[in-house]
Amino acid sequence: MNHVLAIETSCDDTSVALLNEDRQVLCCLVASQDLVHAPFGGVVPEIASRNHTESLVPLIDQAFSQTGVTWDDVLGIAVTSRPGLVGSLIVGLVTAKALAFAQAKPFIGVHHIEGHIMAPFLCDKQHTGADFFEDDFLALVVSGGHTQLYKVQGFGNYTCLGQTIDDAAGEAFDKFAKMMGLPYPGGVQVDRLAAQQGDPKAFRFPRPLLNEDNFNFSFSGLKSSAQRLLEKMSLEERESSQADLCASYQAAIVDVLSAKLKRALEKTHFQNFVVSGGVSANSGLRLACDKVARDLNVQLALPPLRYCTDNAAMIGLVGLLRLQKGESSPLELKPYPRASL
Ligand code: KG4
Ligand code: ZN
Repeated sequence: MNHVLAIETSCDDTSVALLNEDRQVLCCLVASQDLVHAPFGGVVPEIASRNHTESLVPLIDQAFSQTGVTWDDVLGIAVTSRPGLVGSLIVGLVTAKALAFAQAKPFIGVHHIEGHIMAPFLCDKQHTGADFFEDDFLALVVSGGHTQLYKVQGFGNYTCLGQTIDDAAGEAFDKFAKMMGLPYPGGVQVDRLAAQQGDPKAFRFPRPLLNEDNFNFSFSGLKSSAQRLLEKMSLEERESSQADLCASYQAAIVDVLSAKLKRALEKTHFQNFVVSGGVSANSGLRLACDKVARDLNVQLALPPLRYCTDNAAMIGLVGLLRLQKGESSPLELKPYPRASL
């Protein structure tokens, strides 16, 4: 009775994971809906919920059969209960409650952002996670829906130092990719093109709020400036400068994120930091964060790419640590589409 079954359905990825008591992920399955939503250029909430309904139970069966874990081995069930698309959250939450009730196991609702914060501490056969999660550390969460910087003083103790006042970093990548005519979701495409010898200095994009004395972010002005630039360019010009455009735009986002991180580390004197969420898969951001860690001689933990974007393993880790402390949620627990940490 020391394993956790974890379920994540807060947006458009259906994911199920099994973890053991040592933070080891035995399996983490993700049924991506990217291809389903691609023709619409973004997530269609109702389609996302319907697809979760179809994929979730077969994924749970697969997780058990693939690992050989049985219900007798399960300590409890962890499920994302907030924030997210409400229809998507409901599918995961109701499934978790039904299983908890039928198997007489505790279940625990997990905050999606807490999952992202803990992703760098996951372990599996290929990767040993960092182990400073009981100490003080800074956490930058950069995803499609969030850009937030937290001070973490031990597991469960979070203070938000700053956040985006408009678009999230992932949203800024996705909207730019759409303007460039790249397929959805665009962040990874921009990253790929930027890496094809794109010159980050070819175009000068603004670095919003870079020099302001706070830890907030703003990306909508950057997006508008890209739009104005692209409107002035012919199709041929855009085509031939694709890599330079992507590299320059990416550099603007990375510069702002890494500069604010560095300032926050200097101000708090924290010795550890994590960067997580879908945008932490960005190769430019990963390099810039490595440089911050080297410059300040502090420890950085980044999740492996498979745990950057949405996954149930990170929800399982938070659930495991909470269940081990004797916490659980009541069967009346509601999903909250909006909830701060
Ligand atoms: O964490 P996540 O899977 O979902 C949310 O909680 O929002 O993050 C998805 C976001 C998308 O905006 C996607 O374009 C972005 O992460 N993303 C990237 C990369 N991989 C995913 N952005 C930049 N570079 C990447 N390599
Ligand atoms: Zn996420």
